[in-house]
Amino acid sequence: MIIDYNQKIPNNVNLNGDRRLQRALERWQPEYLNWWNKLGPETSKEHEVYLRTAISVEKDGWAHFDYVKMPEYRWGIFLTPSDPTRTIDFGIHKGQPAWQVVPGEYRSELRRLIVTQGDTEPASVEQQRYLGKNCPSLYDLRNLFQVNVEEGRHLWAMVYLLQAYFGRDGREEADAMLERHSGDADKPRILGAFNEKTPDWLSFFMFTYFTDRDGKFQLGSLAESGFDPLSRSCRFMLTEEAHHMFVGESGVGRIVQRTCDLMNEHNNDDVRKNGGIDLPTLQKYLNFHFSISTDLFGQELSTNAATYYNTGIKGRLSETKIDDDHLLHDSSYPILELSGDKIVNVEVPALNAVNERLRDDYIADCDLGVRRWNKIIEEAGIDYCLKLPHRAFNRRIGQFSEIQTDPAGKIITQTDWDKSHAEWLPTQEDREYVQSLMQPVTEPGKIAGWISPPKGRINRQPFEFEFVLFN
Ligand SMILES: [Fe+2]
Ligand SMILES: [Fe+2]
Repeated sequence: MIIDYNQKIPNNVNLNGDRRLQRALERWQPEYLNWWNKLGPETSKEHEVYLRTAISVEKDGWAHFDYVKMPEYRWGIFLTPSDPTRTIDFGIHKGQPAWQVVPGEYRSELRRLIVTQGDTEPASVEQQRYLGKNCPSLYDLRNLFQVNVEEGRHLWAMVYLLQAYFGRDGREEADAMLERHSGDADKPRILGAFNEKTPDWLSFFMFTYFTDRDGKFQLGSLAESGFDPLSRSCRFMLTEEAHHMFVGESGVGRIVQRTCDLMNEHNNDDVRKNGGIDLPTLQKYLNFHFSISTDLFGQELSTNAATYYNTGIKGRLSETKIDDDHLLHDSSYPILELSGDKIVNVEVPALNAVNERLRDDYIADCDLGVRRWNKIIEEAGIDYCLKLPHRAFNRRIGQFSEIQTDPAGKIITQTDWDKSHAEWLPTQEDREYVQSLMQPVTEPGKIAGWISPPKGRINRQPFEFEFVLFN
């Protein structure tokens, strides 16, 4: 299924065959470009960036690499191929054919899910817009821009659904996507983590590791949706998303590597003297990004999530691989609950715990990368272990937002929190130190002193390749 690139908006949804929709999207396109030019990567308009563009939606050979000026990137609408025999796999409509149009009774819920997902995509572009000015290498600069253009494309994916299936409301929601802005006092982005700053490259790598991973899990459950166009959109977005998490995991891993090398070279734990980022500071950034990303899964017990599941509009991750009745009317699920001054394990109705189950899957997935980072530390012969904090630590949403805990999950008083949080979360001083390291390195083959060069290649191009041409 080759994508038609001869059209104004590349697509594989036969946009030509629907003039009304085509016109609506062509009206939105210049608004999108305005937004990109105003709030996308700063001073990047003339750069030629070695980017991948989707040319097909098949598993193999879907990506084409070449130099592109970012405002000329061909953002388009790509859905995975349709399966006309697809049925809904869970909830009260289980076994019925997947919906090709929005069922009237679920319209507002579906719209809300699509808007919430869509809103995160341009938000992260806004959060990352200044990073290009102090990139540690051309390779990293290229990866940042790749993530940015693909988040832009993910916005297109959600805006297509809104415009194609939700009539006038959908068109209004599409406009609002470009009106809310990350951190804006009057019109902020919908979710908390997407209003935080991403002021330095350590934050960027932590963000792509932890917050883009939330994206993977949300898209994974929306890919199970009974609303087939949403499912097919999310399936293709997941293909692109994998690279974003790779950027995060390998980025943090390369910082860990450099820190360990500096510690060994100078026989000194305090690598700040040598221009590195010390392991305790990495742990603090990890604590911060993990806890705010954990909030993105919402309340532990959620009647909304139960409704989404029951009605077939949002499933569980890898729904068909789970061995149960896919109805969840009589089953239970274990969760951690706040009971007085203790955190205890309780069984709750599985239908109400769909969010918490997804959060469990997310935490387990996060831990895999932390283990790989620890392997680097271990191989360097250093006695230190990075850890995910307890899920109750530093929460703003859900029952644990009512308490304070230490990173191990022990409940503490507000006074103890005030006394100790500077040991657990980045302080102003930590942030200023990390910021002081952010000096641009843009010579091909060169890299900043606080991070190691990558081991892998981008489309077989070595690290020395000129990934970005400055014009
Ligand atoms: Fe995305
Ligand atoms: Fe992403």
